[in-house]
Amino acid sequence: MTDLELCRLAHKAMEKAYVPYSGFRVGAALLTEDGKVYTGCNIENASYGATNCAERTAIFKAVSEGERKFVAIAITGGHEGDDRNPCPPCGICRQVMGEFCSGDFRILLVKDHGNAYDAYTLEQLLPAGFVLEK
Ligand code: THU
Repeated sequence: MTDLELCRLAHKAMEKAYVPYSGFRVGAALLTEDGKVYTGCNIENASYGATNCAERTAIFKAVSEGERKFVAIAITGGHEGDDRNPCPPCGICRQVMGEFCSGDFRILLVKDHGNAYDAYTLEQLLPAGFVLEK
């Protein structure tokens, strides 16, 4: 799985977004250490705070299937699915990534409709993140 293939899966996952309130579609594709991909989209709710972001949909799908080791996530989004520009993950999604992923976890922000991306690490996007010692 190349980075660009992961980005294109995120782009494709946007099609499933349920966004009757914002019209802002987001797609994510999460790559596990052993090469499996879990995709996710944002799922909105009439009670807006109950909305689930695309990144957390992908992470929760994977974790609920027993996955714990992740190497990268590609994220894309835009109004009516126009993902020309990067769509950075919200703070809650960064915190959820921090629960399962180490600082070198790669976050690919898709642009140009799935044809290019900017790469970051979790350490760059969530420096000094909160963790509880287990
Ligand atoms: N959204 C995501 O899916 N991921 C993010 O990281 C940021 C925001 C969604 C939530 C809502 O459905 C829409 O984008 C507009 O905020």
